[in-house]
Amino acid sequence: VSQAEAPGRLAPDGSPYPERGRADFERDVRRMFAHIAPHYERFNHLATFGQDVVWRARALWELDRFRTGPVRDALDVGSGTGELAHAVARHFPDARVVVTDFTGEMVRAAQERLAGRADVPRADFGRASALALPFADGSFDLVTNAFLLRNLSSLPAGLLEMRRVLRPGGVLLSLEVGEPASAMVRSVFHAHFDRVVPLLGRAFASEGPYRYLPESLKLLPDRSAMLSLHRAAGFARVAVQLQSFGIVATYLAAAPSAPGQSR
Ligand SMILES: C[S@@+](CC[C@H](N)C(=O)[O-])C[C@H]1O[C@@H](n2cnc3c(N)ncnc32)[C@H](O)[C@@H]1O
Repeated sequence: VSQAEAPGRLAPDGSPYPERGRADFERDVRRMFAHIAPHYERFNHLATFGQDVVWRARALWELDRFRTGPVRDALDVGSGTGELAHAVARHFPDARVVVTDFTGEMVRAAQERLAGRADVPRADFGRASALALPFADGSFDLVTNAFLLRNLSSLPAGLLEMRRVLRPGGVLLSLEVGEPASAMVRSVFHAHFDRVVPLLGRAFASEGPYRYLPESLKLLPDRSAMLSLHRAAGFARVAVQLQSFGIVATYLAAAPSAPGQSR
């Protein structure tokens, strides 16, 4: 077995279980998402009691209160099966929406789900890594991602890259899971997220991915550190809006309105 074919870390049921810090972390994250792609949406709706649909819609509502310019070209990164990209296309019916993910199985699922739909009139699909986006500087008015950030091997590099492809004044919207502020909500959330979700995952033959999920959250910086990382990546205006008692957060960050300006 060559190095490239090595199986990586596996859970007892044989499913991929990525480990941050390993040289093959990104490959294992891709394998994990390829493994869960067929049941990804169903599982999410079940594990979040359908709230994930509300979170994406609400994030776009918050975007409208934050942005100052029009949205003609939008890029969704780490699109998965395309649920956020679909919401963006419906929200901005005149915009071109580019749907990307670094897992081929996810790109295919998004294409099957969205291509040719009347409410997604202008979409392109392709594989792309968030850390090396195949687009020129300043190509988009809006870059979005949902539940992507905690999977990146380097969060600062990912933010810089998404900032690079934004036009002056363009906005990055990131939806991500976080720690609820209230101790009571936190204990209920962790009982569900750390124990019930991995058990549910086992029922879908995916113990590894759903053990990785709470682990990936523990390594995500807190909200104020997240905002600092956005500023360090060159964003001029940053904001965070909480939903569901802080279980998820929408980060909004605007690129400077002219190159070299701080706002
Ligand atoms: C938790 S899923 C979220 C999918 C979708 N955005 C949603 O809201 O359902 C994360 C997605 O990000 C992709 N992903 C993870 N790391 C990535 C990277 N470095 N570059 C591009 N995509 C990545 C995975 O393949 C997966 O489809």
